[in-house]
Amino acid sequence: MLKDKKTPLFILAPMDDVTDTVFRQVVASCAPPDLCFSEFVNVDGLMSRGRSRLIHKLDWRPIEAPLVAHIWGLNPDNFYKIADQIASGEMARELGLNKNYVGIDLNMGCPSKQVIKTGACSGLINDQDLAKEIIAATKQGASNRIPVSVKTRIGFNSIDESWTQFLFNQDLSMLSVHLRTTKEMSLVEAHLDELKRIKAERDSISPATLLIANGDIKDRIAGQKIIDKYGIDGVMIGRGIFNDPYAFSGNSPWPEFSRQQKIDLFIKHIKLIAGWQPDPDRSVKRLNKYAKIYINGFDGAKELREQIAAANKISELLAILG
Ligand SMILES: Cc1cc2nc3c(=O)[nH]c(=O)nc-3n(C[C@H](O)[C@H](O)[C@H](O)COP(=O)(O)O)c2cc1C
Repeated sequence: MLKDKKTPLFILAPMDDVTDTVFRQVVASCAPPDLCFSEFVNVDGLMSRGRSRLIHKLDWRPIEAPLVAHIWGLNPDNFYKIADQIASGEMARELGLNKNYVGIDLNMGCPSKQVIKTGACSGLINDQDLAKEIIAATKQGASNRIPVSVKTRIGFNSIDESWTQFLFNQDLSMLSVHLRTTKEMSLVEAHLDELKRIKAERDSISPATLLIANGDIKDRIAGQKIIDKYGIDGVMIGRGIFNDPYAFSGNSPWPEFSRQQKIDLFIKHIKLIAGWQPDPDRSVKRLNKYAKIYINGFDGAKELREQIAAANKISELLAILG
């Protein structure tokens, strides 16, 4: 349970199509976060015939940090049903897992135009009535068996104090705030200075809600400074992990990693994918995006990445990496 967790919390941010179970296992093997979020998974899709194509997003392995199931959608009834399936352990059992998720998080922050035009995710910033219904339905489904939290932004077109105040009035276990508006996407610096006001709102409206800051926090050391400065309960690190898989360490060996050590970590990732995906060769092109993380910062890295990009099979990839 989140409330039993020792704070401050250092959390790996959800990143769709990146922070799947395999990448989270690699990160945990380097320097584990206190908590991870799954990729976001659509409750309306999970309640449709497309369920089997989505459910892998909730897969995880005990070697990872404890996992929060991160969900989105539009239909409150589907939030209720999926929250019940998660809290009861039914979802975990369907995936063959013998440990359950430690929480359910509602995505109210994704700024994708395709998504927000439906009114979902950060579109909910403009519809507090629906946001309220979705939170209430999820809490009802979870029925106190598992905590419910929200990840959001600080406003839609501009910084909107009424939004964070509204959320603190929903009795959430945790609020993770990406300190940008929807309109700002990730194009401007995160407004870390907003934390002072948000922390004061939290303290006066809902002191029991854990407050987590997110946006441009590159590693544990940077995160600890923000935690100390604003007196918040934790930080969430996203893209920082691309520059340093040991971002959660506090004393990262990554800058001194040799070419071979970096290649070995990539090979570990590839072998984990091969053991997880039913048709691993279909992941070869997707592995290119991870190549930028591992195959970086040494002589010949660019040329090696070009060879990797040309591979069509896992066996070819492993042969290139020697
Ligand atoms: C590739 C990518 C995918 C993302 N997917 C999600 C997502 O599914 N759910 C979500 O709440 N945020 C998502 N985000 C936003 C991150 O969780 C995080 O809020 C954002 O990157 C800012 O943190 P950072 O500066 O530490 O990266 C995504 C970000 C990236 C770069």
